[in-house]
Amino acid sequence: MKIRVLFVCLGNICRSPMAEGILRRLVAGRGLKQNFEIDSAGLSSWHAGDPADPRTRQVLETHSADFLHVARQVKAADCGRYDYIFAMDRENYRELRRLCPEGEARKLRMVLEPLGGGEVPDPYYEDQEVFEQTYTMLERALRVWLDEVAPHAG
Ligand code: 4NP
Repeated sequence: MKIRVLFVCLGNICRSPMAEGILRRLVAGRGLKQNFEIDSAGLSSWHAGDPADPRTRQVLETHSADFLHVARQVKAADCGRYDYIFAMDRENYRELRRLCPEGEARKLRMVLEPLGGGEVPDPYYEDQEVFEQTYTMLERALRVWLDEVAPHAG
């Protein structure tokens, strides 16, 4: 059975597409592409239809993790579809708790939980270097998470 993963941030142009690109690359590197469905979405509709932020694309390209992304807003039906729904920060988490029915609340996670917790700060008003740091942080967390779930994939 496929493991369905959704990353959620505010705009769906910086952090969550970055996490999506990272996990896609990690999964492909382990030959597990068929075992995962990976997507991302934003709590706002501000950037719906847009590609990822150029700074996110730059970082993803540097790490050969670029993919075609079109931003979209998260919807209540996503709570049912996905097995893991990762929030970048506590505000994302709170809003997802409001969006998703109580029965789906166990699917909601903080993306840095595998590293002991914390938040991925919004890099939108920061420079390229912060985007690179965001990549490093997300990749570390997602490697740990993938080590845990990969044996159950397929
Ligand atoms: P993201 O970053 O939530 O990581 O995609 C942001 C992107 C856009 C805005 C805020 C955060 N914005 O205010 O438009």
